[in-house]
Amino acid sequence: PLIDRLFNASQTEIELAQKLGIDRAIIVPGDMDRQERVVDLMGEQLNSALDLLLPLGKSIITVLGGTTVAGVARHLSPKLSRYRDLLFVPGRGAVGESVEIQSNTVAQMMASETGGRHKGLYLPENVSSEALTLLLQDTDIANAISNIYNSDMVIHGIGRADVMSKRRGLDVMTNSKLRNDGAVAECFGYFFDQQGRLVKRIPRIGLQLEDLDKIPHVFAIAAGASKAAAIAAYMHHAPKQTWLITDEGASNLVLKGK
Ligand code: F6P
Repeated sequence: PLIDRLFNASQTEIELAQKLGIDRAIIVPGDMDRQERVVDLMGEQLNSALDLLLPLGKSIITVLGGTTVAGVARHLSPKLSRYRDLLFVPGRGAVGESVEIQSNTVAQMMASETGGRHKGLYLPENVSSEALTLLLQDTDIANAISNIYNSDMVIHGIGRADVMSKRRGLDVMTNSKLRNDGAVAECFGYFFDQQGRLVKRIPRIGLQLEDLDKIPHVFAIAAGASKAAAIAAYMHHAPKQTWLITDEGASNLVLKGK
């Protein structure tokens, strides 16, 4: 039944996908700001969508961090690994997040839920460019990075600029500059204003926005009325093959243009 639902998008889902210029939007009932179970519904949808889209055989899946992506991870099922060899890799080094929601941890969780494999990417946060050049010559790190570029799928969240600048530990000056520049959204180190203009980019190793275009399947998972503006702003950049998994709380506001 869940898989039938994926083929049969509702009118609202079609409208939302069209408005955002992406292939598919999946809207689950409720508002994540008020109902915790919304993340479970999104997890179930993600699990079915992966089963539908992932080819049989080998796939590399790059995952980002955040509470939402960590929350859906536990709904992935071992069935996904039947006839498939899934490798989960983190999209970026840790970016000031607590361990439970770092992409390394989420990749590990997804691998253990599905019976797939995972590879870590462990890089220090702040290193000089000289040190970085050396690190990138390390075979393990070079392999991890090449896995990201060769991935078949990316699963990421979308955050509010204010929440994410705090989580990423940006200093007071940068925070107020972000506010003045009208930043509303953050997605793996990029901050955008309401019109989707890039306001700031935190240089990090790993997946970059421009890499997304070349990835066959991209899942953005973000929900709750409070994230509506962030979702709409980031979607100016989302590649067309993006599938957004969200809830009514966010989608109603996005569709109203708020
Ligand atoms: O850290 C990865 C990330 O996907 C960010 O790019 C995004 O802003 C954030 O997670 C969303 O986090 P949360 O789901 O906790 O709001």
